[in-house]
Amino acid sequence: MFIKLLIWIFQFCLLIPKAYSFSTPKHDIAFYYKTHASVFLTNPNHRTTSYGIYVAGQTITIDIPASVDALSNILNWKVVNINKTRLMFVHNKKAQILINQQRINQMNYSGDLSDSIIAFGDNEALHVPTIFNPSLTAPVHKWNYLELLYFDDSNEKVSVKRSLPWLKDDDWKSIREWKMTDYIHFDNKLYLAIHRSISQADSQSVTQEMSIIRLCLDKGIELISSAVEVHFTRPEFNTNQITDLIFVFIFGSWGNETSHYQLHTTQLQPNNTQIYHIYYFRDIVSLFEETVNECASGSDNINSLRYHLRSEVGKCKTISYKSCSTKENIVPSRNVNNLTGEYTFHDLAGLTPSIHKIQFVTLSYPHFKRTILMQKKLLILTSFCEYYSLFTLKQCLKPKQIIWNWRFVSFQGDFYINKHPFGFNYVGKKTYENYFIPIEMCSHLKTCTQCIMYGLYFDCIWSNSMCTRGDQPKNKATLTVDHCFKISKISPLIFNSSLPTILTIEFDQSLNFTASQEQLVIQAGDNHCTNITMNGPFIICSMHLTKSGQFKIDVSLRNDRYADTSIISAVSNDEVHIFVPDSEYDFTFIVIFILFLLMILVIISFILIVHTKCNNEYLNRFKKFSRTRKANRFIGAQSAITRVRSKILSSTMNTLTDSTVTNAPSSKQVSRWSSMRSVPDHLYLSKQLYSSRLK
Ligand SMILES: *[C@@H]1O[C@H](CO)[C@@H](O)[C@H](O)[C@H]1NC(C)=O
Ligand SMILES: *[C@@H]1O[C@H](CO)[C@@H](O)[C@H](O)[C@H]1NC(C)=O
Ligand SMILES: *[C@@H]1O[C@H](CO)[C@@H](O)[C@H](O)[C@H]1NC(C)=O
Ligand SMILES: *[C@@H]1O[C@H](CO)[C@@H](O)[C@H](O)[C@H]1NC(C)=O
Ligand SMILES: *[C@@H]1O[C@H](CO)[C@@H](O)[C@H](O)[C@H]1NC(C)=O
Ligand SMILES: *[C@@H]1O[C@H](CO)[C@@H](O)[C@H](O)[C@H]1NC(C)=O
Ligand SMILES: *[C@@H]1O[C@H](CO)[C@@H](O)[C@H](O)[C@H]1NC(C)=O
Ligand SMILES: *[C@@H]1O[C@H](CO)[C@@H](O)[C@H](O)[C@H]1NC(C)=O
Repeated sequence: MFIKLLIWIFQFCLLIPKAYSFSTPKHDIAFYYKTHASVFLTNPNHRTTSYGIYVAGQTITIDIPASVDALSNILNWKVVNINKTRLMFVHNKKAQILINQQRINQMNYSGDLSDSIIAFGDNEALHVPTIFNPSLTAPVHKWNYLELLYFDDSNEKVSVKRSLPWLKDDDWKSIREWKMTDYIHFDNKLYLAIHRSISQADSQSVTQEMSIIRLCLDKGIELISSAVEVHFTRPEFNTNQITDLIFVFIFGSWGNETSHYQLHTTQLQPNNTQIYHIYYFRDIVSLFEETVNECASGSDNINSLRYHLRSEVGKCKTISYKSCSTKENIVPSRNVNNLTGEYTFHDLAGLTPSIHKIQFVTLSYPHFKRTILMQKKLLILTSFCEYYSLFTLKQCLKPKQIIWNWRFVSFQGDFYINKHPFGFNYVGKKTYENYFIPIEMCSHLKTCTQCIMYGLYFDCIWSNSMCTRGDQPKNKATLTVDHCFKISKISPLIFNSSLPTILTIEFDQSLNFTASQEQLVIQAGDNHCTNITMNGPFIICSMHLTKSGQFKIDVSLRNDRYADTSIISAVSNDEVHIFVPDSEYDFTFIVIFILFLLMILVIISFILIVHTKCNNEYLNRFKKFSRTRKANRFIGAQSAITRVRSKILSSTMNTLTDSTVTNAPSSKQVSRWSSMRSVPDHLYLSKQLYSSRLK
């Protein structure tokens, strides 16, 4: 921490340009890989003016009177912060601010905003302008391909912090269409799906392309310069117009393990019929890494994005371009026409003609749900299906089977994904009436542990050995402590550093959990018990004696990946007595004293340096840095339904394909844990011992 602080000070004050990081959020399960909507109805069945706002892993509830705006408008807001008194959002191509939940002001921004906004919290958002210029006329304003915006709530102003601008003054002569249609985020990577049509200057020929741009969220404000893209075009793009393009990531087992990463499209054929095509990739992660590496080696295969858009060649310089490095706006760009070879397309179950919009909800462990919504212009023709395999849809449901109100037959409107309660919310365009279709979240959770850890937020309860939805008010503590499992016995009851420190805990039943997903933490006060082995209802671990006293043993299971999982635990009736020799105290005291002196030194030198050298901008950056730090410190106090801003645990995208998950904490995870709560590394069960493959 202090060393980090020192490094920061030097970076700021020696004026070495260096990125600072905004917090990469920890998301809720339902919105883990994509924030489907930032506004939802807290009680969609009995509509009130109470709305939930979700921004980057944090949720607030806010009352917005009907006089402010219509329901269908409010649900379309792209909110960028969670301040109830000054709520900023983008709607109707304008940045706006809702003041005191009463009136809306326009914010000052020089240009049009599209709907393609990804909020990062901290008032920052990525904006991908939508360009539609089929006749290639000179625009009034230059636009950027990508831009990072800062929404200033006090000055009611939006400014561009970083951007990927035009390469030359006549870029507009090549770009007919540029639109981000979707995105997914995995931990610290963000992937944008871009649909574009480009042509050589003064040429009539048009190339329709799909592009995936990867950005590194841990680069903070410099994320745009960490971009790398792959793009492809297909023979059918010469004739078909792409009307929709979304990312789909398949969690869990899947017919063909090579096709978890998919791009779903609807395309309009020349004879005006619509088809549903799916393209899939073997492994997106390695595709980007290869691109970065080839660019670094100066390969001819890799162009630079802005040159490619102008049909020019801008070779990668043979520089040490590393993954996620932030060197200028190079944006290595690779044509993957040959590489993919992994696509297929077909007409999905005859349901596809005249699709108006597709939405896809996929949920990771332990839910493994994949629901596809194919919305038609008329509500009654819409279908919800379970996406079973590349070629199969199952259990398709039509609203007429759920909604018996025939007044809805002629309705036209939109579906919104409602975060809590979780489901699809249908809102009529003119009538503003809504209909809520829940997504079932309990019955597939098979154990008490899963039911409470992953289901409590969705109102699931465990009764009669089944996980079901219960609407009645719940006492969270009784459902999470000593509920799924209890400690029957612990031994020994005295720990003394001259005696063996092996603790044996007996439970009333065996704890069935998935070591690759959930962490088991055993504590006696601040003393952690590590090197855990399990044998039926017995757990054996070795105590690290750091603090003397009398403590109950607390065994908890937690999942650190999501913001909305519950921690479940069991607490022993008996207390253990721990004796730590005095000499260790002395040592700790000396260390603390030295650290204290060091801290004072650092603060003094910091104040001096800041006074003499730092300019304002760097000061602001520092403030920001310390703010994030402060927020992160609360992780220790995290509990189930309180959402805590925190650095996301780093893990590669591989950890999402559950067969390859490892439980070994990444270095970042370890350092966070150890700095936060001094949990040693081996506290995490090793995969070899307990991993159970999910099938
Ligand atoms: C909301 O914004 C106001 C005005 O900028 C500020 O005084 C207040 O502290 C903010 N509230 C939160 C929760 O950030
Ligand atoms: C918007 O910003 C511009 C440039 O900073 C300034 O000239 C203009 O007065 C501002 N408009 C409003 C309404 O604040
Ligand atoms: C998965 O898809 C690839 C490419 O289409 C194919 O070569 C392979 O045989 C498939 N594997 C299975 C198990 O179906
Ligand atoms: C439209 O064209 C596609 C291929 O070009 C063909 O397969 C399809 O049958 C046609 N549909 C109609 C309704 O003509
Ligand atoms: C693409 O495929 C064609 C034919 O299979 C081959 O000649 C060409 O070298 C390939 N291009 C790349 C970049 O691999
Ligand atoms: C720890 O155990 C040793 C050996 O059994 C004993 O001599 C000592 O008094 C114990 N210390 C405490 C604090 O109980
Ligand atoms: C673990 O599984 C066993 C056998 O299926 C079951 O008896 C026990 O209740 C389960 N424990 C928990 C905590 O769900
Ligand atoms: C962990 O436990 C195993 C078996 O109980 C033992 O062999 C090993 O030495 C222990 N490791 C540590 C670091 O205590």
